[in-house]
Amino acid sequence: MGQEIIAVVGAGNTGASWAGLFAAYGHEVRRFDVREGAAAAALTRAAAAARFLAARGLAEPGPAEAGIARLSAPPTLAAAVAGTALVQECVPDRVDLKRAVFADVSRAAPDETLIATSSSGLSITAIQQDARLPGRTLAAHPYNPPHLVPLVELAPGELTDPAALERARDLYARVGKEPVVVNGDVPGYIANRMSAALWREAIELVRSGVATVEDVDKAVRYGPGLRWAVMGPHLIYHLGGGPSGIRGHVSHLTATKEGMLRDLATWTTFPPDTADLLADGLEAETGGKSLAQLEAERDEALAAVVLALRGRRRQENGDGKENVV
Ligand SMILES: NC(=O)c1ccc[n+]([C@@H]2O[C@H](COP(=O)([O-])OP(=O)(O)OC[C@H]3O[C@@H](n4cnc5c(N)ncnc54)[C@H](O)[C@@H]3O)[C@@H](O)[C@H]2O)c1
Repeated sequence: MGQEIIAVVGAGNTGASWAGLFAAYGHEVRRFDVREGAAAAALTRAAAAARFLAARGLAEPGPAEAGIARLSAPPTLAAAVAGTALVQECVPDRVDLKRAVFADVSRAAPDETLIATSSSGLSITAIQQDARLPGRTLAAHPYNPPHLVPLVELAPGELTDPAALERARDLYARVGKEPVVVNGDVPGYIANRMSAALWREAIELVRSGVATVEDVDKAVRYGPGLRWAVMGPHLIYHLGGGPSGIRGHVSHLTATKEGMLRDLATWTTFPPDTADLLADGLEAETGGKSLAQLEAERDEALAAVVLALRGRRRQENGDGKENVV
């Protein structure tokens, strides 16, 4: 892949992880933040993320070292976005702020630069309104942490040019991402909507005393979560319906599934005891480990799973079989 210049605007957690990913693939990454010195201070975290990917076999060491060496924090937004192929916006999740940042970035960046928001679910149509050439703007929502979780949800706004969406799909795929397209301005895009539905039920199972926090987590981790890392929910159920696949699954299990659906939680505001209940359960589950320890354990496990799935994918492609991973 040709090396590109990519600017990451906003030097918080998401920005550091994105910057690390782009650098790991050898791109020249420039970071910018309105807080004095924040972008420069955050270069260390981006370099650590890139090194982690190379050390775990998820990026080539040569390009990663080249990318790390070129990480920089120019003093102005104009200097950061000059000559860029992509600007990945990672500022706090407020429409007015993101709309203003898109306007500023679009005025300073070359005409062909793609401008993508990392927003966790704000309307891209609202964010792109004041941008110069809004056709090259879109949402590219990562899953935390972006340098390790392959999913990126691409959401075009009403003003997004279809060609820009295709360019974005290609660019993200080249840094190991698995892009999906979100059609329509829906809160939470695809993955967070499903996560919210599952989490509500997970909370309810704890609140009603059916299971502990630890057992709910375990049930997902060693059951559906493991299968979902390999195939999505539709494909998994296709394999659980006998010889007629998903048709068999829907027709044979209608009564059972509908019985469950009628019993599921439907609340739309968090019950007042939620945080305390979960905090108590998590204390028991984690045995006093710090957040930093848990984060490191998560990242090691994620790296191992992603590496295994990549190996599997190569095997599938080598065999000429359809790739399902
Ligand atoms: N945290 C997550 O798990 C996660 C996951 C996916 C997407 N996101 C999205 O990523 C974005 C950033 O989230 P975060 O958790 O990294 O936030 P954060 O608060 O950690 O960092 C935001 C940074 O933006 C900077 N900033 C504020 N205004 C700015 C401006 N005008 N120009 C340049 N920099 C500016 C702040 O100084 C800060 O350093 C949000 O849109 C969020 O929804 C977050």
